[in-house]
Amino acid sequence: MSTTEQRVAIVTGAARGIGAATAVRLAAEGRAVAVLDLDEAACKDTVGKITAAGGKAVAVGCDVSDAEQVAAAVERVASELGAPTVLVNNAGVLRDNLLFKMSETDWDTVMNVHLRGAFLMSRACQKHMVDAKFGRIVNLSSSSALGNRGQVNYSAAKAGLQGFTKTLAIELGKFGVTANAVAPGFIATDMTAATAERVGMGFEDFQAAAATQIPVQRVGTPEDIANAIAFFTGEAAGFVSGQVLYVAGGPLC
Ligand SMILES: NC(=O)c1ccc[n+]([C@@H]2O[C@H](COP(=O)([O-])OP(=O)(O)OC[C@H]3O[C@@H](n4cnc5c(N)ncnc54)[C@H](O)[C@@H]3O)[C@@H](O)[C@H]2O)c1
Repeated sequence: MSTTEQRVAIVTGAARGIGAATAVRLAAEGRAVAVLDLDEAACKDTVGKITAAGGKAVAVGCDVSDAEQVAAAVERVASELGAPTVLVNNAGVLRDNLLFKMSETDWDTVMNVHLRGAFLMSRACQKHMVDAKFGRIVNLSSSSALGNRGQVNYSAAKAGLQGFTKTLAIELGKFGVTANAVAPGFIATDMTAATAERVGMGFEDFQAAAATQIPVQRVGTPEDIANAIAFFTGEAAGFVSGQVLYVAGGPLC
């Protein structure tokens, strides 16, 4: 592809939260963006923000854990926007519980969305990246990869994504494709709001309590994470691959 052509990015789970901020940021960087989430209609806000700012975006409904839906979504993006050569595997869910209370469904749901979803999306996009001799994959890990009470499923999935990322980097490097992981700490989104509700705290109090444990003394915003993803997906980041960047207001690992 010529360097003047617009690169196409897919951001999963982009109807809201970190994914929405990332889609808006990548569009501001000049990417055409597929805003992918479970419900196509729910993507309209993110698409509207991008197009209102003069960018190019389409809404795509897809369950990333379903192989047929993933194949159809990636083909649709390729025909409507062009070959997707930037992929952000951001879609995620929580099914928190202590081990002794965790159901098999809680385990499988989290594995399916985070790990199977990232696998299916990356597999479907890699042929476009290999053909283009350029690709950028960013997987959303988490500080929970280091262990977090009540999240045995989520911790395992987010640690698994780190190994997945490093292996993608090794396999795809020779095709000009990089793979990196961003591991957020506490970010104020619907996901953390739902956790506050589950533990019976108001969201403001929950954030204030979390901030006291964070060296920079505040919780993160979706834009904090979008900044890191913009770096990894940038044209200039071609020699940075297989890395895990904790974006958590302080050191984790
Ligand atoms: N918020 C945090 O503090 C935090 C911290 C560390 C990591 N993360 C990770 O960052 C990512 C985004 O988190 P967020 O806080 O913005 O969450 P969120 O719940 O606000 O948004 C997640 C989005 O993913 C979508 N989604 C869920 N299952 C899907 C599926 N099967 N197919 C397609 N889309 C699906 C949801 O519909 C939703 O729009 C997740 O992977 C999450 O695990 C978040």
